Amino acid sequence: MYPNHKRLVLASGNPGKLKELQNYLGPTGWRVEAKPTNLEPEETGATFAENARIKAQAVAAFLGKLTLADDSGLEVRSLESRPGVHSARYGPNDQGRINRLLAELENQTDRSARFVCALCIAGPDGSIWLETEGICEGEILTGPRGTGGFGYDPVFYLSELDKTFAQLSPQEKLQYSHRGKALSALKEQWELLFRSTPE
Ligand code: IMP
Repeated sequence: MYPNHKRLVLASGNPGKLKELQNYLGPTGWRVEAKPTNLEPEETGATFAENARIKAQAVAAFLGKLTLADDSGLEVRSLESRPGVHSARYGPNDQGRINRLLAELENQTDRSARFVCALCIAGPDGSIWLETEGICEGEILTGPRGTGGFGYDPVFYLSELDKTFAQLSPQEKLQYSHRGKALSALKEQWELLFRSTPE
């Protein structure tokens, strides 16, 4: 079945993520809508991929609509990959989460970290259509730099650009980020899957 309208429900309530997904998908012709705010599947998975699947399937099946879910977070090497799938729950708000992370890293010399983004598209019947993952390697600074982005962006540093994610333009962030990479892979897979199928 080829979806004859390029319409997607975004199964996320995080405004930062929604903005980035819309920035990417808008110019490619997709019309996106946010999921209802009270529809919040429990993220019980042990991995980003599992959680993305849980969210995409639950929202797609409930609404009967093509749905894209993003599950993402930060893995810090010297913290045995924490906060990981608990990134959103590591503190009461972005500032609290950053403070906790910096406190836990106070005596660590290895500050290397990576962002991971798992994307999943589920069809209107709740079946899994596509899954991709994107990774961005960097390090955690000792204090924030920059005002853009969201979440842990002000302390996530890319040495090749000498900038944090919070110092990048929205376009630059999509070019380098875990989410941008997962979205490019998703676009490629989508085109492969539907290229030869008549509309
Ligand atoms: P999720 O909604 O469970 O996937 O939560 C992901 C959490 O990881 C967010 O609340 C942020 O704290 C963090 N996160 C994911 N992607 C990014 C990003 O691109 N920049 C900064 N923080 C991010």
